[in-house]
Amino acid sequence: MAGMSLAGVEKKAQNRIMNTAKNEVKLGENQPSIPQVTDWVKEIADLTQPDAIFWCDGSEKEDKLMRDRIVESGAGLWLNADKRPNSLLVRSDPRDVARVEERTFICCKSKKDAGPTNNWREPSIMKAKLNGLLQGCMKGRTLYVIPFSMGPVGSPIAQYGIEISDSPYVVANMRTMTRMGSKVYDEIAKTGNFVKCLHSVGSPLAEGKQDFPWPCDPENTYVTHFPEERLIISYGSGYGGNALLGKKCFALRIASAMGRDEGWMAEHMLILGVKDPKGEKTYVTAAFPSACGKTNFAMIIPPKHLKEEGWEVSCVGDDIAWIKPGPDGWLRAINPEAGFFGVAPGTSYDSNPMAMDSIKRDTIFTNVALTDDGDIWWEGMTKEAPAHLIDWKGKDWTPNQKDGEGKPVLSSHPNSRFTAPAQNCPIIDPDWENPEGVRISAMIFGGRRATTMPLIFQAFNWVHGVYLGATVGSEMTAAAAGTIGQVRRDPMAMLPFCGYDMGDYFAHWLEMRCLVKHVPRVFHVNWFRKSSEGKFLWPGFGDNMRVLKWIVQRCQHGAHALETSIGWVPEYPDLDLKGLESMTPEKFEELQKIDPSEWHRELVLQDELFMKLYSHLPKELVFQRELLISRL
Ligand code: GTP
Ligand code: SPV
Ligand code: MN
Repeated sequence: MAGMSLAGVEKKAQNRIMNTAKNEVKLGENQPSIPQVTDWVKEIADLTQPDAIFWCDGSEKEDKLMRDRIVESGAGLWLNADKRPNSLLVRSDPRDVARVEERTFICCKSKKDAGPTNNWREPSIMKAKLNGLLQGCMKGRTLYVIPFSMGPVGSPIAQYGIEISDSPYVVANMRTMTRMGSKVYDEIAKTGNFVKCLHSVGSPLAEGKQDFPWPCDPENTYVTHFPEERLIISYGSGYGGNALLGKKCFALRIASAMGRDEGWMAEHMLILGVKDPKGEKTYVTAAFPSACGKTNFAMIIPPKHLKEEGWEVSCVGDDIAWIKPGPDGWLRAINPEAGFFGVAPGTSYDSNPMAMDSIKRDTIFTNVALTDDGDIWWEGMTKEAPAHLIDWKGKDWTPNQKDGEGKPVLSSHPNSRFTAPAQNCPIIDPDWENPEGVRISAMIFGGRRATTMPLIFQAFNWVHGVYLGATVGSEMTAAAAGTIGQVRRDPMAMLPFCGYDMGDYFAHWLEMRCLVKHVPRVFHVNWFRKSSEGKFLWPGFGDNMRVLKWIVQRCQHGAHALETSIGWVPEYPDLDLKGLESMTPEKFEELQKIDPSEWHRELVLQDELFMKLYSHLPKELVFQRELLISRL
């Protein structure tokens, strides 16, 4: 581009537009007779100029075809069918491995509506930019039309969308992650309304040219949202949340704006059910930032003695919750997704046996290592690494391999993922597809914090709970491109996912109090506190059930707690620590310590966020902060 004059660039763009007008694309077979759908697909096809249009029906046969196409393209391979039936390993371009927050935009008319925590662009300016990129961008490729439902089809909480994509990998993943298929058209036909999701990998194929195994355009990646039009346009990336538009783009960014307008909530939360020994069921949601343990907690297996006492956990969802006031005065939640897009490294039969069982078949693995017998492996799956692997970049790998700087070479990317049907999870909740949702008794917030935050404390009331959520901090992980390890404020784990002004979002949380009779109890947890030697103070994983038991008993008014300056906390005898010999009263004290100097630092950091959000920040939260300061 460097040598080309501006006039030259304009001329080139003009030529492209003229070409487009000449090549009208035929819609092809199996389209629904819904003009709102066919008109839009036609408009996009004329713009993007694909070779063919493929209307997806969601069938098994079609899924097999998509998986074959992924393999043919060179991006993926079938795993050993005896070990992992119907499963693929896919390798992405090493530049396209995570969400790209700095290229994620909220495009609403007024900058104020996007708020200070989002990247904002004026809608017509962003569209002009995108139109330039989209002209002819599907040349040489197939345009897939993917009808999908977020939530059980027909549920009063569900919403419908259509994703247009030029990636068979996206089609195959969307089939697992959403309810995808022709039946969605019957619902869309009733109103003509659906969320428009346009996706392209941004890599048109010149005639006769060899394709890339994983086409993408990292330099020109845009993940854009137009909440006023309920439109999403994503260009240049084929990975995860950038490309599976039902997930973060729709179910969080667009849906959070819908929820604000319509009196419900779209949250970055897992949902789980706990059955106590009396058989009473309590449902709980938990918001932890990306790669901070939602999947692990959502499928937790209680320690042996608790299982024997009769405690049981079931999973409703591991990433997103849509929560609506129900006719019974309770908040009711559904999991809008139909699958798990889970972090692979660290997942093992020790840390998360239910996830391991969920990925036994029908799973798409992305950016993990391949074993010599055609199965998969990643760091932490087994204590000992296999003697030889093909790593996520397709290269030979042996244990203890070091890179040029002497650092260990990872066989799998830290944000490598598995895409597995929720149906495969042995402890999926019997009500996980209940169209009315499940009744929420508690909400938990948490982050990855080496210091300051105790293992567990409970908010005094809803407003205080909203304050706890609003001030969540967490060390950054590999789920997004950026600085790993640095603590940032991540309110309600929604910093990258809230589709409007964060201060207005807090106000919406506070308003929800008026829409229900039974407000959930609110808790804060931290599985990641470290000792001065840098070791985790709490064993985590299955042992988190001990904390969950206290939470459930607090909801049922059956557990003791002590009032402190930051909230209600369990005392040593209040938490079930049976069999955890290492958790001495001294260690427990260290784990639960409220250190005034750490808290003063924390308050300064919280203030940075509050200053940023000041113009729309609800006064209730400012008062909560003042009250906390005076208590401390
Ligand atoms: P997204 O899918 O990115 O939204 O994240 P998630 O919250 O579902 O992430 P996931 O559950 O896959 O988190 C995985 C990471 O959390 C791994 O690094 C695990 O080792 C770590 N992890 C999960 N639970 C615990 C725990 O109880 N203690 C500790 N120390 N680490 C945990
Ligand atoms: C997250 O980053 O929170 C995820 C993975 O759940 S992705 O779908 O890529 O956003
Ligand atoms: Mn997530």
